[in-house]
Amino acid sequence: MPDTPALAGLAPDFVGAPNLVGAVDEARQWARLMDLAEIGGFTDPAGHRGVNRACLTPLDRAARRKLIAWGEAIGLKPSVDALGNLFLRAEGEDAKAAPVLTGSHMDSQPNGGRFDGIYGVIAGLEAIEALREAGIRTRRPIELVAWTNEEGGRFAPGCMGSMAYAGFAPADTWDTITDKDGITWAQALAEHLQAERDIPVRALGGKPFAYVEAHIEQGPRLEAEDCDIGIVTGIQGSRWYVVEIGGKTDHAGTTPLALRRDAVQEMLRAITALNTLMHDPKDVLRFTVGRVEVLPGSSNTVADTARFTIDFRHPDNAVLQARGNAITGVVQAAMRGCTANVTERFHAVPVQFQPEVPDAVERAARAQGLRALRMASGAFHDAQFMVPLCPTGMIFTPCRAGVSHHPSEHAEPGHLAAGTRVLAQTIAELANS
Ligand code: GLV
Ligand code: MN
Ligand code: MN
Repeated sequence: MPDTPALAGLAPDFVGAPNLVGAVDEARQWARLMDLAEIGGFTDPAGHRGVNRACLTPLDRAARRKLIAWGEAIGLKPSVDALGNLFLRAEGEDAKAAPVLTGSHMDSQPNGGRFDGIYGVIAGLEAIEALREAGIRTRRPIELVAWTNEEGGRFAPGCMGSMAYAGFAPADTWDTITDKDGITWAQALAEHLQAERDIPVRALGGKPFAYVEAHIEQGPRLEAEDCDIGIVTGIQGSRWYVVEIGGKTDHAGTTPLALRRDAVQEMLRAITALNTLMHDPKDVLRFTVGRVEVLPGSSNTVADTARFTIDFRHPDNAVLQARGNAITGVVQAAMRGCTANVTERFHAVPVQFQPEVPDAVERAARAQGLRALRMASGAFHDAQFMVPLCPTGMIFTPCRAGVSHHPSEHAEPGHLAAGTRVLAQTIAELANS
């Protein structure tokens, strides 16, 4: 995807909204982020404060209740849909106009950081609050959304809430998926909706006027290029698989190699073959085995089951399809005495955002004198699924050394506030068009 050089300095045709920019409260936003970081917060052995807030847990609900309280305090109206997606609506002058939708997710990775996802939700709230404090009225309603299960850490895949909202998959698609304790998605969701039964229900789906999501970059580029804002132009494609190798348990001390059907050894053969399939001298392709399970998991027994996950990403759909479709054959060819079963459980094609939102983000960044660059996202986001529904875009802010999905994930309060100022101005423009 094409990049443009960094923008710097105030444009001669300054069209900013100084009172709106001034109303974004860096300290309030930071205090809210730190407050929410305590819900599921932990300190890792190196002393970093991280977050483990899995979706549809009491911790997730506690965070959502705090958001609702902050929203209600400024007159926003909450509602929840069948997937548990939470909305907070600010009315516009024309209640019938399609809303501008902004937000992100509140769940975290198991060993996650304090900013991934939650920043986009709190930035949306701060932007709406700043609009009110600046006395800026909008024609269109603005809706803040916290999507359910973006991370896929407890129930895979991620982005279930946004996929169902956008009609990528029926609402019951994931009902039988289990977490590591054997709880099904359907059970967890039913329990969650029951716990939130006091919140008005809304129909699943919608047709926003535009969607804009703020997020930390989760990569090193903005920091390395000394930029304040990433104007996101699109998101690379992702495919997720789970591979299960079936063998036979045997005594580790006595069974000759020729008689073994060792699931671990054949998993290693499969992963080695996949590394060859996924080799990319340009280092654009991303291939990750992030979870391995071995059963029965006894050190003196040959394993009869080995399961591993694949996360495979590429910005070019042709590569995503060709190599992704080759995975099953490569795994099967690596088997000797074991069986292999490959299941695909997530398939998001690369998307290019329509120009409307990135252009509005660029205008806002330029008007505010921020250094911004156009860039594609390597991480997936709920925004990926909004593209067929409405003009969509994202605003990235720098994060230290590009680290994310780790407790040491860090973003500077000033960078986050700059992202929110751009978000506020972008929303103001879109909601008055
Ligand atoms: C999102 O969390 C991703 O894995 O890209
Ligand atoms: Mn995220
Ligand atoms: Mn994430």
